[in-house]
Amino acid sequence: ALLIVAIGLGLLHFGFPLAYYCYLKKLWLNKPWDVRSDPEYKPRVSIIVPTYNEAKLVRQKLDDIASQDYPKNLVEIIVVDSASTDGTLEVVKEWIADHRDVKAKLIEENARRGKAHALNKTLKVAMGEVVIITDVDSAWPSRDTLASALSWFSDPLVGAVTCLKVPTRGGFIGVERGYRDLYNVVRLCESKRFSTPVFHGELAAFRRDLLVKLGGFPVDIGADDSHTATLIAISGFRAIAVDNALCTELVPREGYHMWRIRRAQHLIQHFAKALGLLSKAPRGFKPVLLAEAWLLLVATTILLYKALTGTATATILLAAGTALLLFKPYRTWIATQAYLVTATIRNLWTKE
Ligand code: GDD
Ligand code: MN
Repeated sequence: ALLIVAIGLGLLHFGFPLAYYCYLKKLWLNKPWDVRSDPEYKPRVSIIVPTYNEAKLVRQKLDDIASQDYPKNLVEIIVVDSASTDGTLEVVKEWIADHRDVKAKLIEENARRGKAHALNKTLKVAMGEVVIITDVDSAWPSRDTLASALSWFSDPLVGAVTCLKVPTRGGFIGVERGYRDLYNVVRLCESKRFSTPVFHGELAAFRRDLLVKLGGFPVDIGADDSHTATLIAISGFRAIAVDNALCTELVPREGYHMWRIRRAQHLIQHFAKALGLLSKAPRGFKPVLLAEAWLLLVATTILLYKALTGTATATILLAAGTALLLFKPYRTWIATQAYLVTATIRNLWTKE
């Protein structure tokens, strides 16, 4: 009986997300968008770059933004720094002085209270109709990325826009690619259907008036961008990941696993809170995370126990499961589960 429970949990664990993925891909991937994107639409935009100890990367990041093909008089760049100790401030000041043709300013916080706190302070002075947040360890590989992302705001129903992700450099690039190939499809399909609950720090764009109405970004949730986008979607606007804006993210060479665990922790915090609010809209995305993490752990434990106490079926299932690791998508999926489980446990003592 225990064995049947294990098999049942295992099937549920894989069956549900697999069905969700297949359903999304089949029904939504090739559907045309039901929101409008007008390439001629050029709103005023504030690009906020939060920094904490980013002396090494921040110059490149600012160059990257300044090289975007977008009317200069419609863009303001605001760097908000929270008491960096590595000379970030000097680099930024120098960059601003060297680029008089760019509207750029620096806001200095005198202590570090987190990214969201810094963003909320900056919102008060941001003048753009659209506010874009972009992390220093990311790049917009095309000169059209900014214009492409903004074109979607021509539709008054669109409240927030994010990019799809292409990982570059760093360690574990293969794992990271597999993960992205899978999730880019999911994000895009969710967006065509209604909205995606996961936004990306490489490019997260929001209508400023909606941000103001929400009182800014939540300071108690690691995935502040995803949570804000979800709140915007719940209020009836679209929060979408778009296929004409690709961003690259620098995958860290060192500390890859810790990085993945922290990411997963942040997402769990976000989903845990969002689930409490999801009674009305938007449909479809909440069950995914919930269905995943624990079932695999329980199922494997039971199987292992059964195999050790001499049940042939359990041994065969375990062996089959191990052999399946040769397949990349399966491996990617299992790795993600391992990060989620670890993250759930780590969330018990630190939300950092
Ligand atoms: N001003 C300020 N103050 N900036 C900060 C602080 C702070 O206390 N902490 C971090 N930053 C800056 C970093 O310098 C970087 O530019 C950006 O915020 C993101 O920090 P990371 O440390 O690179 O965050 P992450 O990679 O773990 O998470 C990012 O991605 C998630 C998912 O896409 C963040 O953007 C999360 O908000 C996002 O949910
Ligand atoms: Mn990062």
